[in-house]
This record gives sequence, C-alpha cells and structure tokens, in this order.
Amino acid sequence: MGIKILGTGCYLPDQKLTNNDFTKFVDTNDEWIRTRTGIAERRMAGWEPVWYMGSEAARQAIAQAGIAPEDIGLVIAASATNDFHTPSIACLVQHETGAVNAAAFDVNAACSGFVYALDTARRFLETDTGMKYVLIVAAEALSRFLDFGDRSSCILFGDGAAAAVIERSDKPFTSALGADGSGGRLLYARSVGVAEEIKVEHEFDDGFPEKRLHKLYQDGREVYKFATKALPKAFHLAADKAGITPEDIDWFVPHQANIRIIETAAKNLGAPMEKFIVTLDHYGNTSSVSIPLALHESIEKGVIKRGQKLALIGFGAGLTYAGAIFEY
Ligand code: ACO
Repeated sequence: MGIKILGTGCYLPDQKLTNNDFTKFVDTNDEWIRTRTGIAERRMAGWEPVWYMGSEAARQAIAQAGIAPEDIGLVIAASATNDFHTPSIACLVQHETGAVNAAAFDVNAACSGFVYALDTARRFLETDTGMKYVLIVAAEALSRFLDFGDRSSCILFGDGAAAAVIERSDKPFTSALGADGSGGRLLYARSVGVAEEIKVEHEFDDGFPEKRLHKLYQDGREVYKFATKALPKAFHLAADKAGITPEDIDWFVPHQANIRIIETAAKNLGAPMEKFIVTLDHYGNTSSVSIPLALHESIEKGVIKRGQKLALIGFGAGLTYAGAIFEY
C-alpha cells in the first residue's frame, strides 16, 4: 500500500537575512558562504512560534487537499525546535486546524523528520483502515538555537514550516529509516539545564562539548562526511526493496543542507544534478522543513507533476537518515 499527497502548504516568516547581513556580527562574507554552502539568504522567525508557523502551513495544505479537517485521523509534527517540551506541536496544530478527530504526536528525527513522519503515516494508514487522512507538519525556528557568534554554523540555517495531507493509494511506496546514535555528539542543542552542575558537582562529563543551553553545536566537517554517505545510502536502502534505480526517479528531493553535499550525493548516485530539487539558496537549511518545503515549492511551480516518481532523501542530527520513494 502506498500514499498519495493530496495537498501541500508552507509558511515563511517575512524577515530575510542575506549573507551580507551576517558580516555585521561575524567575520564572514557573501563569497565564502555562497561557494562553501550555496546559500544566499534565509528566513528568520520573529514573533512567530513554531506551532503557529506549522498551523499556517497545515491550513494551506488542508485547503489545497479540499478535505474537511474533521476527517483527519492523525497529525504528525516533525520538529527539532519545539516551543514547548510539552504539549507537542502536533496537538497545537490539531486544535488550530480543527482536526478534532485526530490523534496527534511529534517526531524528532531532526532534518530527517518529515521522511520519518511520512513512513510512520503510511504504516498508520495501512493498519488503521478507518483512518482517511494524515496531516504531516514540519516546523522549525532554528534561529532561536543558533550561536550568532559562531560563523561556521549560524550562516547555515533558516526558519519556516511546510505541511502535507496524505491518503492511502495503491501505487508502490518504499522507504527506509536509519540512525547512528554514535554521532549524537556531532550535532546537538541542549534543552535541560543540568549538564554543568553534573560536571562540577559529580565530576561527570556527558561528553557533549558545548555546555551552554539552547545553542546549536556541530562538528561541521564530520557532519559533512556523514551527510555525503547518508544521502545515497538512504536512497539505496529504500530503492533496493523494489528494484528501483536512480534512472527510474524523476525528481530527487534531498535535505537542503549544503549544495556541495547534494552535488556529491548526485555524483555517488550517478544521477544528474538536473534531477535534484534545490531551494537552499533562498531558504538555507530549515531542518525537517527543508524536504516538504522543496516539495511544496516545486509542486506550486509546476516542476513536480502528477505521476512522476519522487525520491525524498534526508539526513540529520541524531544522527539519522531516511529515504522514501513514491509517485506524486
Ligand atoms: N565565513 C568565513 N570563513 C568561515 C566561515 C564563514 N561563515 N565558517 C568557517 N570559516 C572558515 C573556518 O574557520 C576555516 O578557517 P581556517 O582554515 O582558518 O581554520 C575555513 O573557513 C574552512 O573551514 P571548514 O570547516 O573546513 O569549511 P568547510 O568547507 O568544511 O565548510 C561547513 C564548513 C559549511 C559547516 C561544512 O562543513 C558543512 O556544510 N558541514 C555540514 C553541516 C550540515 O549540513 N549541518 C546540518 C546537518 S542537518 C541537521 O540536522 C541540522
């Protein structure tokens, strides 16, 4: 059993930050950021909570799908930057959208979150035959976790939200989810304020180098190495289940972290760059939002068309990776 995307939506904060804006507070320049990452500008949430951005994207996806919110059986929200430890973003979106009959929960698989959610949604639709529609929402405000004094990380990320309404279909769907927790210390942001106390009072070092709360830390080079292998791996793990090759794919929709990571993945897959959707130049890395946002934008522009075969491939903190192949 497969899935059909009935509608998509997005929300983007008005505030734009160009590469030149960063030169006001870190030692960087437009040329370095463009050539090393492919990013030119990104959106930054101002007053908007993550759940608000997610709800706006969800409303658009529901409207486009042309369904009644009461018919949604499940809301899954993907985010690594929740406003609250609890309630979940999914519960807040459920309320905001009037999806009163839906169960709701969040997944946190960082930038792989949308593909993790899609895989999960398909399983629910397969086993719960009474469920008609699943709403998947990805929403992030990474800017609230960035260290704007760290030039190697703050220039990479952006904020926003994207959503999709899906139903079951009889078209093929294959997916693969994976994780390597040994890389957990390579990319993280702390949430709980005990690390320094534990270290000082109990002489226990948890091994996560950045001790400050809510500040994103990453070992860029190690994450880069992981990412270039993870994207082809995510594709092959999903594709091999159905004997699919890169030639069968019309559009690869990769996680939008760095153009060089996407180019290396394309090379490793033996697929032309023309088949890869790229939006990171104008949105930066929006974590779990990047794949559904690229999907939404390409559908809106008429680039991705009904009947075309898509490969969504992601990697992220955790470390995680995920791939899903299906027909739009
Ligand atoms: N402007 C100018 N110079 C910079 C900047 C900047 N913004 N950032 C770093 N540099 C400097 C470094 O200090 C270094 O200088 P040095 O040689 O004097 O020490 C030099 O540029 C080269 O640094 P590298 O780290 O080797 O640069 P690299 O080409 O590897 O690019 C980057 C760094 C962009 C972070 C890259 O490693 C990368 O993209 N990594 C993956 C990051 C990623 O995808 N993270 C998200 C994962 S998804 C998720 O779940 C959030």
